[in-house]
Amino acid sequence: MTAFRDLRHYIEHLTDTLGEGEVRRVEGAHWDLEIGGITELSAEREGPALLFDDIPGYPSGFRVFTNFMGTPARSAVALGLPADAPKLDIVRAWKDRDLRLIPPVEVATGPVLENVLEGEDVDLTAFPAPRWHDGDGGRYIGTSCMVVTRDPDSGWVNVGTYRVSVHGKDRLSIWFLDNQHARAIAHKYWDRGRNCPIAVVVGQDPILSTAAAMSAPKGVSEYDLAGGLRGQGVEVLYAPGTDLPVPAHAEIVIVGEMPPREEESVQEGPFGEWTGYYTHSGQEPVVRVRQILHRDDPIILGAPPMLPTIPAGDQAVPLYASTMTWEHLEQSGVQNVRGVWAYARQLMMVVSIEQTGAGDAMRALMAAASRKRPGSVDRYIVVVDEDIDITDINHVLWAMFTRVNPAESIHILRSPTTSIDPRLSPAQRAAGDLSMGIVLIDACKPYAWKDRYPRANRVDEGYRAELRERWKDVLSL
Ligand SMILES: Cc1cc2nc3c(=O)[nH]c(=O)nc-3n(C[C@H](O)[C@H](O)[C@H](O)COP(=O)(O)O)c2cc1C
Repeated sequence: MTAFRDLRHYIEHLTDTLGEGEVRRVEGAHWDLEIGGITELSAEREGPALLFDDIPGYPSGFRVFTNFMGTPARSAVALGLPADAPKLDIVRAWKDRDLRLIPPVEVATGPVLENVLEGEDVDLTAFPAPRWHDGDGGRYIGTSCMVVTRDPDSGWVNVGTYRVSVHGKDRLSIWFLDNQHARAIAHKYWDRGRNCPIAVVVGQDPILSTAAAMSAPKGVSEYDLAGGLRGQGVEVLYAPGTDLPVPAHAEIVIVGEMPPREEESVQEGPFGEWTGYYTHSGQEPVVRVRQILHRDDPIILGAPPMLPTIPAGDQAVPLYASTMTWEHLEQSGVQNVRGVWAYARQLMMVVSIEQTGAGDAMRALMAAASRKRPGSVDRYIVVVDEDIDITDINHVLWAMFTRVNPAESIHILRSPTTSIDPRLSPAQRAAGDLSMGIVLIDACKPYAWKDRYPRANRVDEGYRAELRERWKDVLSL
């Protein structure tokens, strides 16, 4: 596992391992829609990571980096795995990873202190935060960012990724879904008549980004999780005047306090969300910024949400969802799982099993459906036999089209969704009703006569390998 020192180290490592073409430098694109648009168009064709520089109106060197884990190869490199690792091996490696928690290492200084701006010098508009989508209600500096808070009772440090937008020189807004840890922590301060101290970290290595988006149990710091994933504690320092640890090698850290919404709020959103729609907007609390730390020539790490069918953007979420579902299935007693793969982030979850008895497929479907997390939108769960390559959507569709009897293999449950689900009706939203259907599809050969199921006419794996070798010239075209 490569323990990336910081985002810059990861960028260098990408070109070292995958070639110069893996990171494309783009000069002169505008922060208003152009950076977001180019990112989306490039992601649609699984293009390179993009490093935007010479952004009009900003000093050369103030950069934006996007599509950072946008292909399976980049995800593998980001997670310290071989770039050509088969997709399912990445999930398996994560599932079997050593789950040690390694606490951060405190250091006295670091590059993030190269520039410390306070008082009159605080100016968030000095950074080229993009307006990513044309319906966005503002400029979002935080997309794949880390919001650091500390529980006032236990001292537990929580790190989460929540969207962050800029409102003038010294105000940010942050949007937390209802069940997020940072919201609960902020409420504890507010209940005691205090403002909640907050640090927003913009620009960190991909392991930290991944850990921040994970839902570590209450009391477990995502810093410790990141340390475990990278095999070494993350180097942190305390933002001056706070008890909030921030990565010493971060690109930008914004420090301030969040008063309760009743005291100060702003219009937050709308923002193009990961489902591919705009849903949430409303009055949200602000961060009153009192300090900005940043490196020379800082890089904003941007992960603008795109349609979830685009195979780029943030790959960590589907990988993590696949891994956690696989673990959940095994913990639920489903032992014959051969793989789990999430499509469209996790709107469709596909599980492959080796059937050993009648009812295995249904057991797997029910167990997968019971893994509901706050903030998730689950629509379809599909179980297929082990001969299906679940990382190939065409293969999955073939199983769904030819091994399902719609009259008996499809089951619909009602299950809670989340407020950004675009299919919630206005009436449901008004009533706070988050119930939604979820479809369970048994696309396995029926166990009772699976050995008599018609034989498939696809070239088998062994002969495929032989042909690929013998007919390289023809088949590599
Ligand atoms: C790119 C990205 C953006 C996210 N944006 C938000 C957001 O705006 N609000 C939110 O509540 N969760 C958001 N999430 C999900 C949270 O990061 C995730 O639920 C995480 O577990 C929250 O941390 P917590 O468990 O410590 O509360 C986002 C995740 C990713 C990967």
